Amino acid sequence: MVAPIRKAVFPAAGLGTRFLPATKAQPKEMLVLVDKPVIQYGVEEAAQSGVPNIIIVTGRGKNAIEDHFDVAVELESFLTQRGKTAQLEEIRKIARAINVAYVRQGEPLGLGHAVLVTKNLVGNEPFAVILGDDVIDANPPALRQMIDVYERLDGPVLAVERVPREAVSSYGIVAFDDTENLGKGVYRVKDLVEKPRVEDAPSNLAIIGRYILTPDIFAALEATASDRTGEIQLTDGLRRLLKERPIYVCEIDGVRHDTGNKLGFLKALVYFALQRPELAVPFREYLESLDLKIGAGR
Ligand code: UTP
Repeated sequence: MVAPIRKAVFPAAGLGTRFLPATKAQPKEMLVLVDKPVIQYGVEEAAQSGVPNIIIVTGRGKNAIEDHFDVAVELESFLTQRGKTAQLEEIRKIARAINVAYVRQGEPLGLGHAVLVTKNLVGNEPFAVILGDDVIDANPPALRQMIDVYERLDGPVLAVERVPREAVSSYGIVAFDDTENLGKGVYRVKDLVEKPRVEDAPSNLAIIGRYILTPDIFAALEATASDRTGEIQLTDGLRRLLKERPIYVCEIDGVRHDTGNKLGFLKALVYFALQRPELAVPFREYLESLDLKIGAGR
């Protein structure tokens, strides 16, 4: 039996510069998709995948995240007094489903460094990493699909997606071995290249924001030097680990939205609004009423 995945790390200490000025005094993880902050979609995915222990890596100005997952005594008693049971149930549901711990990153020295600061909280066991920016609508949930692969192959598993060739330079790209039959969309990693030029990319299989890692990643990250920008990259730590053990990738069956950029965020907002029973019809009617010719409405 492989060691179970009990903990999910959410790196949330980045500065969110692509969303300034919104993220000057508010973490980007708290930007709202319909009525839930972005990070809650990932936390619910972890809980629904059977991983209720959440470790959030925070930095300066991220208090709103802690308040969001905390019990709000005054708000709860207000809702109770007013008989607003549906809203009360909604805010209690997520708090009951998870246990949350926080660790500070101090300085945003990269995703690899953010994972490294969770070393003591994670301990000597395998764990998941979820980048909340990537919101994935999938059934079974994306993390559950990965855990199923991990339980079969007993090694680190990275979530990947096929991206258009011209987009490879925005991602970590995987060189993989497709001669072994490991199951649909599952491959053994041969090499990892961070943000390659289109002509240098070994494939169009891009790493997205979900990882299942084994505790030996911590030693690999400790031995990984900072890059030119002074950051420790998780991909560099994984490359180092690859010399010591097999690493696998798994194509996720679902729809991913990268909410870390404005266009991706807007697409996700429309997508999730159209899935809400109470909004679907009037919102679709509104969208269809728009004159969508470029420049219309100016
Ligand atoms: P990003 O590079 O997408 O996030 O990092 P960012 O730096 O906050 O955003 P921009 O590019 O300035 O707009 C991917 C994830 O890793 C976390 C971020 O919070 C995000 O969830 N991260 C990144 C950290 O926790 N610490 C870091 O040092 C860097």
